[in-house]
Amino acid sequence: MKAAVVQTSPLFGRIRENIEGAIKVIEKLDAELIVLPELFSTGYQFKSRPEMLKLAEDAEGGYATGRLTEVARKKKSFIVAGIAERSGGKAYNSSVLVGPKGLMGIYRKAHLFWDEKKIFTPGDTPFEVYDTGKARIGMMICFDWLFPEAARTLALKGADIICHPSNLVLPYCPAAMITRSIENRVFSLTANRVGEEARIRGKSLKFIGMSQIVSPGGELLFRAGGKKAVAMAVEIEPKDARKKNITPVNDIIKDRRRDLFQL
Ligand code: ACM
Repeated sequence: MKAAVVQTSPLFGRIRENIEGAIKVIEKLDAELIVLPELFSTGYQFKSRPEMLKLAEDAEGGYATGRLTEVARKKKSFIVAGIAERSGGKAYNSSVLVGPKGLMGIYRKAHLFWDEKKIFTPGDTPFEVYDTGKARIGMMICFDWLFPEAARTLALKGADIICHPSNLVLPYCPAAMITRSIENRVFSLTANRVGEEARIRGKSLKFIGMSQIVSPGGELLFRAGGKKAVAMAVEIEPKDARKKNITPVNDIIKDRRRDLFQL
């Protein structure tokens, strides 16, 4: 199957423009799985929780999910995208999985980064795996990369592909996600954004781009640059992620010495 990452450059608060811009790119892509960045529709640097709440929307029946479902239906594809999700009185930094039949899954970011702790409610969804028919898909968001348990949990639950919407500002993640792929023998698709947001005095955020697609063996199948919006699809075989042997006698899942681990 063909899997793609879309690296965007959203404009803060311009929801319709950001969504329609991403959809134009998706419409031209030849891919059955497409991953967009974290908070792709709103932008990242909210000044306050009330400001975020004005821009957040429901995952079920919301505008972003609705538009992404329309394009997923037209293309017979699956799309993972990060949104500010309102749910009851709470709001989460979330990722949705939509397919031709609509919303399939919601993941709410477990590990909030820096000022996100003042803005969002920490995620309350388990790390779940969704079967699209051709692949088993798990989601994590940006800073979750630093907590290897997130990717490991998805791998233990049978994920072939980890979809990883991101808004990276630190430099470590692109290299770390190669390790996440190797140590779990899964594909990982990190879709990051580019550009800068400086909406809070003294807190200018520069997003590093470098969206990438990594194979279960740690091969970098694609890596974007750090400055421009770009999209890339690559051919992958999801079932390659079901072979957990790294030598004839080493299965990286079965070899774990859980009796020695402090959990
Ligand atoms: C991040 O989690 N957006 C760095």
